[in-house]
Amino acid sequence: MTKKILVTGGTGYIGSHTVVELQQAGYSVVVVDDLSNSSLDVLDNIEQISGTRPAFEQFNLADAAQTDDFFSRNQDIAAIIHFAASKAVGESVKIPLHYYRNNLVSLMNILDGQLKYNISNLVFSSSCTVYGQPDKLPVTESTPRKDAESPYGNTKRVNEDILQDSIKAYPQLKGIALRYFNPIGAHPSALIGELPLGVPQNLVPFITQAAAGLREQISVFGDDYDTPDGSAIRDYINVVDLAKAHVVAIERLLQNKNKAGYEVFNLGTGNGYSVLEIVHGFEKATGVKLNYKIVGRRAGDIVKIWADTSYANKELGWKAEKGLEETLLSAWNWEKRVRGIN
Ligand code: WQD
Repeated sequence: MTKKILVTGGTGYIGSHTVVELQQAGYSVVVVDDLSNSSLDVLDNIEQISGTRPAFEQFNLADAAQTDDFFSRNQDIAAIIHFAASKAVGESVKIPLHYYRNNLVSLMNILDGQLKYNISNLVFSSSCTVYGQPDKLPVTESTPRKDAESPYGNTKRVNEDILQDSIKAYPQLKGIALRYFNPIGAHPSALIGELPLGVPQNLVPFITQAAAGLREQISVFGDDYDTPDGSAIRDYINVVDLAKAHVVAIERLLQNKNKAGYEVFNLGTGNGYSVLEIVHGFEKATGVKLNYKIVGRRAGDIVKIWADTSYANKELGWKAEKGLEETLLSAWNWEKRVRGIN
């Protein structure tokens, strides 16, 4: 019997790549998304890659009645991967109530549905942002979390606590929080990828749009940090490697291999790259010259972070495999397909 997985936010960037990996691992997938930050044609492209169009329902999971109705009609769900959330760091500072309501209430409605309809397994999309600026690098899963730099980051931290406390109170639940570092790149088919609405906040989509001529110049936010070239360092992980880790996490829960009701894993590569190394790495990987300038630091940015991946490697038997240049090239191939550039 094919197991059915609910992927919330499944038409989004990481969600769509995870739907493809789940289907290719033999699972049937139902996607719930409110399409506030993605579009329906992602389902066409998923179908083109995997040969199977996932089931789809459009509604916002912060709506308790619609979420309960969905679960009442989908009691055969074996596990849930919860991506759906508002995720723009800067926007969250401007409209915090929207972020707290949308991100926290959605998770609570899902947990209500799990308890009511006996769905035990949940994988939660968390973020390295919960660590703030770590005192010691690389970051392990026991590195203390710090006050978030933004309401967005705080919703990730609070949602981890909601999940952990719910699992403690209701032992029929079990869950895994996956703390992503910086997801970048696109599926090798170039049929799915990152397509931010408006001006991209994140570095790599801004770079690919600049390379495509949509953006005049790349601003490098600061080169006076305490790093080798002065620009900030992050752990950039290929989105397909990240998607594969979700299949591993789901199977860990379905096969009862989890060693505790609530588990946390860092999903990074273990390598830190600076902004300038990403800029030059993109030029090397694609042959496209980038126009960039050094400007002031961006408020809320941390200086450097990268993961200690040993726990995820050992416990999950998962490791990020794709290198930086291959990943940056995949992002460029996606951008070229979206913009009709040969
Ligand atoms: C990376 C580096 C910028 C844009 C955020 C969230 C995290 C996750 C990923 C959702 C920083 C610099 C950026 C630009 C630049 N999001 N930069 N010029 O801030 O590390 O992480 O996005 O899950 O949770 O916190 O990612 O790509 O915005 O920035 O110099 O035009 O690139 O200052 O040093 P970030 P980012």
